[in-house]
Amino acid sequence: MADIIAETERLILRTVEDGDEAEHARLLNSPTIMKFIGGPMEPAEIEQRHAKAMAMYAREGFSFLFVIEKASGEMVGYCGIKRVDDPAAPNKGDHEIGWKIREDRWGRGYASEAMHAVIDWAFTRVQAPHVVAITAPDNMASWKLMAKLGMVRRDDLDFEADHGPLIQYSLTADQWESAA
Ligand SMILES: CC(C)(COP(=O)(O)OP(=O)(O)OC[C@H]1O[C@@H](n2cnc3c(N)ncnc32)[C@H](O)[C@@H]1OP(=O)(O)O)[C@@H](O)C(=O)NCCC(=O)NCCS
Repeated sequence: MADIIAETERLILRTVEDGDEAEHARLLNSPTIMKFIGGPMEPAEIEQRHAKAMAMYAREGFSFLFVIEKASGEMVGYCGIKRVDDPAAPNKGDHEIGWKIREDRWGRGYASEAMHAVIDWAFTRVQAPHVVAITAPDNMASWKLMAKLGMVRRDDLDFEADHGPLIQYSLTADQWESAA
């Protein structure tokens, strides 16, 4: 059974389970959503990512999660915590937060609402020393969200990945508390 990690006003964040891959493929794998993150994935890649998330949750107590909309009971996003694993990143192993929200739910504040809960989780139960977020410079929605969450631009951590340049923002527990 899935673990519920957090509940917010409109959303429930829960761990992924065997069999969730098809829903991920159906609702989150569109060219628009995946535009800045490598394009739509093959079913096998989604399966592999879910397997990795489940193993990470079992091993480390954190992972990416399904975002469930309370009003409809539907999955509306995928977000959470992983470790920086791009071989070219200067800070491999840091706690990295990330997100995608279903296209027909954009602009309702869901990413913001879900990520407040994820960051609280990171700094309380997970006890991350700090979190980072990584995005493509052209992904304005994503870096604006980072800034809105109170994250700090870290050009010292920028790097060149296989598919192009990536930029980073970071946040400490102290910065999160003062932003609140
Ligand atoms: C980034 C994303 C998760 C935002 O989801 P969302 O639920 O629409 O975001 P919210 O409504 O919570 O908006 C939060 C803030 O993000 C920023 N933002 C979101 N969409 C934006 C857009 N289209 N243009 C500019 N800023 C945007 C704004 O700062 C916004 O705050 P504001 O409404 O007060 O201006 C969504 O666009 C998405 O899924 N994108 C594709 C996946 C992706 O690229 N993920 C990031 C990988 S690094």
